[in-house]
Amino acid sequence: MKVSDAIAQRVSVRAFKPDPVPGSTVREILEAASHSPSGGNLQPWKVYALAGQPLAEFKAIIAAKLAAGESETPEYDVYPHSLWEPFKKRRFETGAQRYAALGVYNKDKAALKELGERNYRFFGAPVGLFFCLDRRLGPPQWSDMGMYLLSVMLLAVERGLDTCPQESWSNWPVSVRAFLNLPDDIMLFAGMSLGYRDPDHPLNAIRTVREPFDAFAQMRGF
Ligand SMILES: Cc1cc2nc3c(=O)[nH]c(=O)nc-3n(C[C@H](O)[C@H](O)[C@H](O)COP(=O)(O)O)c2cc1C
Repeated sequence: MKVSDAIAQRVSVRAFKPDPVPGSTVREILEAASHSPSGGNLQPWKVYALAGQPLAEFKAIIAAKLAAGESETPEYDVYPHSLWEPFKKRRFETGAQRYAALGVYNKDKAALKELGERNYRFFGAPVGLFFCLDRRLGPPQWSDMGMYLLSVMLLAVERGLDTCPQESWSNWPVSVRAFLNLPDDIMLFAGMSLGYRDPDHPLNAIRTVREPFDAFAQMRGF
């Protein structure tokens, strides 16, 4: 598969079939992704892959907390507290696409909550990944993490698999840290669902748009 095709075909998938992914395939992807570049070759990524019983156990822990109305102090702010244009509109539109796909009215609090909570079931994926790094590292290393995540997503596409990267997991740092037995200096950056898409689910019909080239790039001297 061409890199261009993998980039074009990757989308965030939010409903998966339960079909398992072989451990050898998951390992192959995570290992190949370690060829991602990182400033100073720091390789800040630490990855934890859950499937089967451990995944079920972990999802049950979060489900019980959600049912009890519990929450945790997020590991970090995913967005600035008050977004401004053009980011506000883009964020609003991607949310609106999801509500429309499910026919959810945007003031239906229960339906919106349920939509958000799908994250914490890894959207039904058979594999849940957590990406962590040393909390003393800074923005350059967070960007290295992003490169590792993208490599994982493209390697998954190459193998006919789908993903959804999930910063929403940063809302459950205490539970994730306790379950994975993470040392204090390791923080949770994001999770990721990995598996085979449910092709019939309306959430998977969503295609997000991108700004036109001239809106974000300038070329000089060509
Ligand atoms: C680092 C990162 C974290 C994300 N976190 C979430 C998340 O928690 N839940 C979710 O449904 N989508 C999440 N997304 C997916 C974005 O919403 C998605 O990439 C964006 O809307 C563009 O759509 P596409 O991935 O289908 O091209 C995340 C994406 C990235 C890159």
